[in-house]
Amino acid sequence: MQKIEYYKYGGPELMRLEEVEPPAPGKGRVLVRVRAAAANPMDWKIRNGAVKIMTGRRFPRGLGHDFAGIVVAAGEGVTRFKPGDAVFGAMSMRDSGAFAEMVAAAENQLVKKPAGLSYEEVAVLPTVGVTALQSVIGKRGLQPGQSVFINGCLGGVGRAAAQIALMHGASVAGSCRDAAAPDARALGIDPVVGFDFDTAPLKGRFDLVFDTAGTMQFRAARRLLKPGGRIIDINMTPAKMPRAVFSRAFQAVNAKYTPAALETISQAAAQGKLAIPVARAVPLAQAIGALTELERTHTPKGGKLVIVPQAATT
Ligand SMILES: NC(=O)c1ccc[n+]([C@@H]2O[C@H](COP(=O)([O-])OP(=O)(O)OC[C@H]3O[C@@H](n4cnc5c(N)ncnc54)[C@H](OP(=O)(O)O)[C@@H]3O)[C@@H](O)[C@H]2O)c1
Repeated sequence: MQKIEYYKYGGPELMRLEEVEPPAPGKGRVLVRVRAAAANPMDWKIRNGAVKIMTGRRFPRGLGHDFAGIVVAAGEGVTRFKPGDAVFGAMSMRDSGAFAEMVAAAENQLVKKPAGLSYEEVAVLPTVGVTALQSVIGKRGLQPGQSVFINGCLGGVGRAAAQIALMHGASVAGSCRDAAAPDARALGIDPVVGFDFDTAPLKGRFDLVFDTAGTMQFRAARRLLKPGGRIIDINMTPAKMPRAVFSRAFQAVNAKYTPAALETISQAAAQGKLAIPVARAVPLAQAIGALTELERTHTPKGGKLVIVPQAATT
C-alpha cells in the first residue's frame, strides 16, 4: 500500500510517498482502508519536530491524523467494530500515519460514520471538532445566553467552535480576515472584527474568549472577559506556562479523542449542526504537493484539504 512517510524531523521536502506493507491490526486496533484523510496544522508541526519530546525518534514516521474509511480487519480484543463498518476518527499524536491507503487505528479513537454523511464530510471533523468541543464546552459547560469570542473564527477549530457554541444557545462574536467577514456572518457570528481589532468596544462582554489562532495578547483577551469569564488557549508555549498555573481565567486545552467526544461531534454533524467545508480534495499521489502548498501559503481558505487515497477511488 502507499503511505506518506519521513525519515527525520524537518521541512516539507522530507515527505515521501512510499510503498509499504499494510500494518497489522494489533491488540485493540482495527485495520481501516482509508477513504478520506484531512490535513491539520498539527501534521506539519509534528513533522517539523515541534513536539519531538512527545513523538520520539523512531523513523520512518507517518503523517496525518484525521481519517474516515472502512474496517477491513479487527485485532485482538476489539469489541466495537467489525470488518465492513464505516468509521471515522483520529490517529494519536504518537502514531500519526493517516495519509495512507490503510491505517491500524486504536478502537477507542474511532466511531461509526453516520450513514447520511460522506467519508470526506466526516474525515474533516475529528481534530477540529473534538478540540472545539473540549474548549468551548469542556467540564464547565456553556449555558444558553452566554457569550463567546473566537479569535480566528474561520479556521478549522474556529468554525467548529462557533457552530458548537451556537448549538448550545450561546451568542458568538469573532475575528477573521476582513475579506472573509461575510462568511463569518453567514455562520451566525456577530459582531465580526478584523485581526487587528480594537478591544475597547468589546470590553467586558464575553463569558469565554477562545484564542484558536494563538495570536491574542493575554491582556487583550482578559479585557474582553466578563467577571468570572475564562480564556481558552490551544497553542501553548513555554512562555504561557506560568499563566496556565497562576491565572484562574486562563486554561490550556489539548484535544483528547475519546469515543464520547467523537460521538458528540458525529451526532452534531448527522443533525446538520456541525459541518466543516472541504476546500480541496486530492489523491494520495498529489498529496505531498498539496500539503507543501498548504503549509507554506496557508491556502486553501474556506475549508480543509482532504486526501482521497487513489485505491479507494477505483
Ligand atoms: N491543543 C490542541 O489540542 C490543538 C488542536 C487543534 C489545533 N491546535 C492548534 O490550533 C491552531 C488552529 O488550528 P486550526 O485547525 O483551526 O488551524 P487553521 O484552520 O489554519 O486556522 C487558523 C485560523 O487563524 C486565523 N488567523 C491567522 N492569523 C490570525 C490573527 N492574527 N488573528 C486572528 N486569526 C488569525 C487564520 O486565518 P487565515 O486563514 O485567514 O490566515 C485561520 O482562520 C493551530 O496552531 C493548531 O496547531 C491545537
